[in-house]
Amino acid sequence: MSAARLTGTKYGCGSGGCGACTVMLSRYDPLSARVLHCSANACLLPVVSLHGAAVVTVEGIGSTKTKLHPVQERIAKAHGSQCGFCTPGMVMSMYTLLRNQPQPSLEDIREALTGNLCRCTGYRPIVDGFKTFCGISSELFHMNGVLPLDPSQDLIFPPELMLMLQKGGGGRLCFQGNRVKWFSPADLSDLLELRAAHPNAPLVVGNTNVGPNMMFKGDVHPLIISPGSVMELHTVSWGKKGVTFGSACSLSEVKEELQGAVGRLDPEESRVFQALLNTLRCLAGKQIRNMATVGGNILSADPKYDLSCILAAADCTLQLVSKGTPHQTIRITTSSTKFPTALTLTHGVRAWEFVSAFRQAQRREFAFSIVNAGMKVVFKEGTDTVQSLSIFYGGMGPTLLRSTQRKPMRLSWNEGLLEEACRLLAEEVALPPTAHGGKTEFRSILSLSFFFKFYMQVVQELREKVGYLLTILHPSHIQMVSEIQSSKDPVGRPRVHIAAFQQATGEAKYYDDLPAVSGELFVFMVTSTRAHAKIISMDFSEALRVPGAVTFLSARDVPGQNRRLWFNNTEELFAEEEVCCVGQIIGAVVAESREQAKRAAERVRVTYDDLSPVFFTIEEAIQHQSFFNPKRKLERGNVDEAFGKVDRILEGEMYMGGQEHFYMETQGLIAVPRGEDGEMDLYVATQHAAFTQEVVGHTLGVDSNKITCHVKRLGGGFGGKVMKIASLSAIAATAAYKTGRAVRCVLDRGDDMLITSGRHPFLGKYKVGFMNDGTILAADITYYSNGGSTLDESSFIMEKALLHMDNGYKIPNLRGHGLVCKTHLPSYTAFRGFGGPQGLTIIESILHEVAAECGLPAEEVRAVNMYSEEESYTHHRQPFCPRDMVRCWDECLEKSDYSSRRLAVQHFNATNRWRKRGICAVPLKFGIGFSKGFYNQGAALVNIYKDGSVLVSHGGTEMGQGINTKAVQIASRILGVPMSSIHIKETCTGNVPNAAPSAASFGTDAVGMAVKDACEKLMKRLEPVMKAYPKWTWSQWVITEAYCQKISLSATGFFMGPHTSVDWEKSEGAAYYYFTFGACCSEVEIDCLTGDHKNIRTDIVMDVGKSLNPALDVGQVEGGFVQGLGLYTIEELQFSPDGALRTRGPNQYKIPALCDIPPQLNVHLLADSQNPNAIYSSKGIGEPPVFFGCTLFFAIKEAIAAARRESGLNGRFALSSPATVEKIRMACVDRFTEMVCFTSKPGSFTPWAINV
Ligand SMILES: Cc1cc2nc3c(=O)[nH]c(=O)nc-3n(C[C@H](O)[C@H](O)[C@H](O)COP(=O)(O)OP(=O)(O)OC[C@H]3O[C@@H](n4cnc5c(N)ncnc54)[C@H](O)[C@@H]3O)c2cc1C
Ligand code: FES
Ligand code: FES
Repeated sequence: MSAARLTGTKYGCGSGGCGACTVMLSRYDPLSARVLHCSANACLLPVVSLHGAAVVTVEGIGSTKTKLHPVQERIAKAHGSQCGFCTPGMVMSMYTLLRNQPQPSLEDIREALTGNLCRCTGYRPIVDGFKTFCGISSELFHMNGVLPLDPSQDLIFPPELMLMLQKGGGGRLCFQGNRVKWFSPADLSDLLELRAAHPNAPLVVGNTNVGPNMMFKGDVHPLIISPGSVMELHTVSWGKKGVTFGSACSLSEVKEELQGAVGRLDPEESRVFQALLNTLRCLAGKQIRNMATVGGNILSADPKYDLSCILAAADCTLQLVSKGTPHQTIRITTSSTKFPTALTLTHGVRAWEFVSAFRQAQRREFAFSIVNAGMKVVFKEGTDTVQSLSIFYGGMGPTLLRSTQRKPMRLSWNEGLLEEACRLLAEEVALPPTAHGGKTEFRSILSLSFFFKFYMQVVQELREKVGYLLTILHPSHIQMVSEIQSSKDPVGRPRVHIAAFQQATGEAKYYDDLPAVSGELFVFMVTSTRAHAKIISMDFSEALRVPGAVTFLSARDVPGQNRRLWFNNTEELFAEEEVCCVGQIIGAVVAESREQAKRAAERVRVTYDDLSPVFFTIEEAIQHQSFFNPKRKLERGNVDEAFGKVDRILEGEMYMGGQEHFYMETQGLIAVPRGEDGEMDLYVATQHAAFTQEVVGHTLGVDSNKITCHVKRLGGGFGGKVMKIASLSAIAATAAYKTGRAVRCVLDRGDDMLITSGRHPFLGKYKVGFMNDGTILAADITYYSNGGSTLDESSFIMEKALLHMDNGYKIPNLRGHGLVCKTHLPSYTAFRGFGGPQGLTIIESILHEVAAECGLPAEEVRAVNMYSEEESYTHHRQPFCPRDMVRCWDECLEKSDYSSRRLAVQHFNATNRWRKRGICAVPLKFGIGFSKGFYNQGAALVNIYKDGSVLVSHGGTEMGQGINTKAVQIASRILGVPMSSIHIKETCTGNVPNAAPSAASFGTDAVGMAVKDACEKLMKRLEPVMKAYPKWTWSQWVITEAYCQKISLSATGFFMGPHTSVDWEKSEGAAYYYFTFGACCSEVEIDCLTGDHKNIRTDIVMDVGKSLNPALDVGQVEGGFVQGLGLYTIEELQFSPDGALRTRGPNQYKIPALCDIPPQLNVHLLADSQNPNAIYSSKGIGEPPVFFGCTLFFAIKEAIAAARRESGLNGRFALSSPATVEKIRMACVDRFTEMVCFTSKPGSFTPWAINV
């Protein structure tokens, strides 16, 4: 599509895991004479498989130049597009749904979006926009004047294709590429011919298994047979025994057919279908289900795949065929070399047969199962005597694990059977601790839990409905501007993100959308495979023999310094002699194309000499006393003395895992040498253009005035595009310098995750002294972060953790130490919140423990410790007024109906054994601005042109947060011109120099003030003209008078922010400009048997001062909260024991999807709040809400505690973040967890993955 310049379709992962590349695929079905539309992941669609199909991309349905499609208009107007990188994919999923169902239900919308991830919005506004197609509107978005949906305006299926297919598709097709030959047989007999001639060639239909394996596992198939158009493989036929699906039927087709059957058939008759439907609902996303085939799922024989277990348990059969032999029918578990044409599902299960399927995954939907199971029990008619019991497990080994008792058991379905079956299963399912995939205890326990669930279902004839109704509420309260404000003044109004329409139509350009510069090359990084080693040699001769390879780069090729300098810390661009983590860049290959560069990079041979020690975890670093400097300490009061005065003392620790940014757009840039004076332009995805410019200048040995960085927009940043992108830019610039040609660098998702790393894992060890009423008098906390192999921003991040260790609590004697561990992992870096969430979470964990220890409700203990005096001081002696924090807290408890819901939770827990609920509320005080005072500055340039239009440039970067929209709102207010006359083109170091990074929630504060300053200067210059001609219009003042009077119509603006700083020796200083406050309450429900959890409801009250744009601010609150939801409950990074990141894509690393959002998510902006410190009394809001995800964590912990009490366990227990399904299940100790006991001691074996 890039060759066709259709860049609207985005590439986020290449593995079907994110939905950014969604397109609509239409085919004409000659049998039904209908055109069928389905959404599909373009990244998994081989072009050759599209013969006879029509593909519609986001550009095909509407544009800002012609007419928007209602889907595009509504997602934009509902504020559902922030960075915009996911937006075209969302649009195409919804568009496809509307093509098939112009009046969809909420459930249809939910299903249509299961395969689309968004990292910015938190999904609520996207759904808000789309649910208007069901006739429901919201407060932030009104339907007034929106385009109606008019299906008659939709693109038609190309008549020439229809004609071609009506005539018959023709014969066998053959496509020959450079490396692969692709056959598309004409019919079944042709397929059998081909199959006989090429027995080793894979059959590819959906390409959802073969494709990713070729791309990521290096599978090579010189010849592929694609029977997608063989009609015989697509038939669905009903017979006496049940239904038969052709093996090329897609999973969506199977699902649809079964849904219809379940509606028609008697419930007992359709048990197998229901079980299968339950599985299909959670299996992958909609786009994958549309492409993936039932034959492919079974034949791929991947233990993670879900269908085989349930099909095997239900005794389904496969029909096989091969050339020259009769058709044969076999059970699903029988292997055969013949080719399956169809699958028969039996229905008519008798009243005394029960069949069920189970699966548990890291995320509720759109995630491979960790373990899945299919179970069937047959009773002697009219009795509870078991005749046979079949159990199949997937995910417990490389093949299906079968535990079958087919001979008559003559046991009753009772507790005795349960005990005996679990005992036998425990032996059968035990996994060695080294087993592939890790989580061995969890997986074994899960197998027992599934059986217990099945047992209970059968006993009670329960048919649990797996359903999830989308009832996301609107934000209940947003701030409104005062009635006297001019209707032309946009400040304070929920204005749409200024690029939302371009983002929704795919017109918005990201760095990789820029067309190739003539002669452009591609650079691909070569990274270390060892965690700590000397580089002995690098042989790139093989690499340079790959067609298209141009050159190899290493430290020797750097013309200037092979160093990135940051506050006196240096980091090598290319490792020179030694590597200190897996993923460290040691070289780079430059080639004519992306694929060639990748292929060549794989051929670089590096020999190493391993060095010791090698360690990765915080605990190991503590043992080795391996810490970076400076080590920080903050102290208030006399902690040691206070410990002598308290009623009780408690000691403990809390670990918080790291987090991957997972911005939808991976890091990269284009470096374009200008061929004169060393000038170079970089089109780069950076949050800190000035730093990138500086590093590139040092690397090339060129002054900064020759290097220009251009940043149009980022597809998400979240702090991850500040540091590493500068190194990548320097490497790409070196390649451009060496070759004299433009060079593009776009990291693959896997490399991005490996090389650029993310949020620091933290360990907090604490001792706390408190009174019996929960008042904390003393706390001593030591924070350890895993900094990885270089310092990067780790020390500042640790400082921020320490500066937030008091949250909203006045603990009179408080001491914190902060140590950054140096380990052999890729260097951790900035991530939204910048250590704040970690610092805050440890203190909240302490509050939680103290409440449990005192037997008091947690909210009471929080309230009793909260800052309350009008003039309060933080533990670093910064004065502040906590009034608005307390207001947020009170309002949050009230709006969430906390007290009565707490009682309801208690009642629920008393009446349910295997499901438990928890509820938790926390307050928040979050510092805004940089504690390094010199960063608190902003600059802007505002030009007025002779036609009256205005161009604003500023030093911030637009990454979805809406900084440009707010800047335009501000300029519009001051200049008095409509927003539509003001434009922001890009962030450019040539226009606004030396800008600070867009970070610390300070971007709008800095940039907004600078824009205001520049605009005010211009207005001052125009004032005499305006006074002289009061009746003239803006254009007349500007064109007719000001220009002719030689008044400069260009002005720079500057904002000198506060001189924040901390004296770490004295433990004092005003670290922040001001504080943003808030409070959040969440309720969850856990499934004690599987570890699954449901987020039930979240209420947030946020103090954003006087919001500049309530829609954007609510977007930041919701998006931040949902990122926190991921941080605290789902997102888990896994490293191999030798330090290699295992989670390198969306299929292994799960960020929140639509299914994770609490069905009730209410965001309220605190009314009547002021902030004299920032632009128009607003407050920074980007970072603070991430921390609110911890309410889910502590609510889960409460629910687990309730489950443990059922097992007689009343004491404290450790739970580390994220509270994954595995951890929840393992903490809910019961008889099943005790049945699976592991004898191997930690240290006596090599685990599959380690906690770092
Ligand atoms: C992002 C993502 C998420 C996923 N999530 C899940 C999940 O949660 N649960 C789950 O079970 N699966 C999941 N899958 C896997 C998916 O269900 C399978 O890849 C799919 O069913 C394979 O079908 P296909 O037609 O795409 O196979 P292909 O990739 O085309 O082929 C796979 C194999 O099957 C054989 N084969 C293909 N078609 C046929 C046929 N018609 N008849 C006989 N043999 C055939 C081929 O020879 C080949 O060996 C996921 C896949 C992706 C990419
Ligand atoms: S790029 Fe295709 S699904 Fe992610
Ligand atoms: S707006 Fe969805 S990923 Fe940014």
